[in-house]
Amino acid sequence: MRVTTSDIRKLKAEGQKFSALTAYDAVTAHLLDEAGVPLILVGDSLGMAVLGYENTIPVTLADILHHTKAVVRGTQRSLVVADMPFMTYHRSVEQALENAGRCLQEAGAQAVKLEGGRVMAATIARLTSVGLPVLGHIGLTPQSVHQLGGFKVQGKTLDAARRLLDDATAVEEAGAFAIVLECMPAEVARLVTERLAIPTIGIGAGPYCDGQIQVSSDILGWLPDFTPKHTRPYAHLAADAADAFRRFQTDVAAGSFPTAKESFSVAEDVIAELRKEPRPRS
Ligand code: KIV
Repeated sequence: MRVTTSDIRKLKAEGQKFSALTAYDAVTAHLLDEAGVPLILVGDSLGMAVLGYENTIPVTLADILHHTKAVVRGTQRSLVVADMPFMTYHRSVEQALENAGRCLQEAGAQAVKLEGGRVMAATIARLTSVGLPVLGHIGLTPQSVHQLGGFKVQGKTLDAARRLLDDATAVEEAGAFAIVLECMPAEVARLVTERLAIPTIGIGAGPYCDGQIQVSSDILGWLPDFTPKHTRPYAHLAADAADAFRRFQTDVAAGSFPTAKESFSVAEDVIAELRKEPRPRS
């Protein structure tokens, strides 16, 4: 049985902290599913983690649909949330409805995530009113990187912190089942978490959030030139992979790969017979 959005809400009510991670492919999603991670986000961080973009802006709805399908195929238990890309829900509530609908209907996600606080409240209210679960996202909202002037911690002044509290309340009142708090002071995230009935899921928002989400490649050490302050590398996959690639190339160049162990055999008389036969004419 898959985790539902009500199960996620229940975790807060029971005081149970929970994890969430991103995935973009079936193999990683399967590992997260087996590890018991209750929520998997097919984040638009896909742009940097997989597609080689500098930020999330170029990611398209087609990209998210494609990768969400793979993640859904790799999972049985985790709740799969599709991240709505830049400009796929901003033009109108109708545009948001149509594209969020595709994430559920075509890709098989169980919910969508979209960035924005009070400004997105009407959109969230409309989606949730037709049975389309929404995960909110406030604080550092990477799709607004050009407006924010870079990837900066939000909510550091009294006014900015007030705005975050107001945004969080608006997202909850609009019907979101949970909300991501990205890159804000831990004490501001604590206040938001205390004031909301829905779970807060922090990334760079300190230890008081109800859940914690990270980009999988960050905790795996897969992009070694990029380790944000808010992450912790639990593995060093890039170093392991680089070493494996180097050793493979050295072995091939030296003729030590493959050996008989990595090859297939055939009865000797078959080859002896073939050697006697004239070379076929083309
Ligand atoms: O796209 C993403 O991975 C996200 C998380 C950082 C919350 O939005």
